[in-house]
Amino acid sequence: MTLSQIITERVQRVTGQSQVALHEPSFKGNELAYVKECIDTGWVSSVGSYVDRFERDLAEVTGVKHAVVVSNGTSGLQIALQLAGVQRGDEVIIPALSFVATANAVVHCGGTPHFVDTDETSLGMSVPALADHLAAITERRAGATVNRQTGQRIAAIVPMHTFGHPVDMPALIELAARFDIPVVEDAAESLGSRIGDRHTGTYGLCGMLSFNGNKIVTTGGGGAIITNDSGLAKRAKHLTTTAKQPHPWAFFHDEVAYNFRLPNLNAALGCAQLEQLSGFIAAKRELTQRYAEALKDVAGVSLFVERPGTHANYWLQTLILDSDVAHLRDEVLSHTNAAGQMTRPVWELLTTLPMYAECPTMKTPVAQDLARRIINLPSSPQLVQGVS
Ligand SMILES: Cc1ncc(COP(=O)(O)O)c(C=O)c1O
Repeated sequence: MTLSQIITERVQRVTGQSQVALHEPSFKGNELAYVKECIDTGWVSSVGSYVDRFERDLAEVTGVKHAVVVSNGTSGLQIALQLAGVQRGDEVIIPALSFVATANAVVHCGGTPHFVDTDETSLGMSVPALADHLAAITERRAGATVNRQTGQRIAAIVPMHTFGHPVDMPALIELAARFDIPVVEDAAESLGSRIGDRHTGTYGLCGMLSFNGNKIVTTGGGGAIITNDSGLAKRAKHLTTTAKQPHPWAFFHDEVAYNFRLPNLNAALGCAQLEQLSGFIAAKRELTQRYAEALKDVAGVSLFVERPGTHANYWLQTLILDSDVAHLRDEVLSHTNAAGQMTRPVWELLTTLPMYAECPTMKTPVAQDLARRIINLPSSPQLVQGVS
């Protein structure tokens, strides 16, 4: 049998299904009851008790003082960067290996992405590589850290916790403090992922979560900004809700702002989903064990597992091909998909996309290598019956 045939057969063995998606939402809790309540009471739109409750529940689950829910993760990241001080002409450090939204949010607030290589043990931003890069290219000018090569200020660093695997945040926070650059975390994929006891998204000035339909917890579409900074949370709420001054009946808006509100209907779905988060994570961690067991005697492949000291949500199950079989990636993708087992490669590196090809970047050998070797496997929690 070829490697593609073996992998397909083993994946099929784990999923037990002839047609299976990469990731499907699971609605087995109070979703219908909470959404029905919104419809019955008429509170379906931009304010309502589920919006307030979802913010409280998110703050509790992630261990922060404040959560501000928004229309999606991309808009949340845009506002978070704006509140971190990113302005037109600034550069923002982001991983080359990320979903396009990380870079788009930088551009939406006037900045330019500046790309960093990947750490093979976390699939996220490489802190040692960034340390060397910042030491080589920056200098302090008028109280700011400036890229000597472009003359632009480096205004923020945005780590992203790939597929739920935490970046080495303690080391990154120490590095960022040394260079006096604020950190905003793209925690879109890592709800429930921790380093020790501390939740991802809570190390920087603020973090962003996504509740898109493919995420571990979904509101259909939605996101949140999480932070311990009360002033920042207040500003985030104001800016994302049209900057309307509170008043019983008058409409006075005090700055140009956004309608990035999450409707009550979506927040209701989110509250019900969040009640099941620990079950979803347990199911995903069990799924990892099952894939690892099914693939353990297959030469040339390994299942990506969490770094010691971290607790990943295993949002997506990730297969890594050894370098000597990397050339077989597309064949494995074609074969598994043709057999009804939906698998996907990782994103094209952001440095290769036409709109970002001219942006500043360090050399990205690890990201380039990994991008050829990653295959994500069917990851829905309901593939593990009885746990989710
Ligand atoms: C890493 C990353 N950043 C940002 C986003 C954007 O989130 P949203 O789709 O909610 O705008 C996503 C997911 O969609 C993501 O995976």
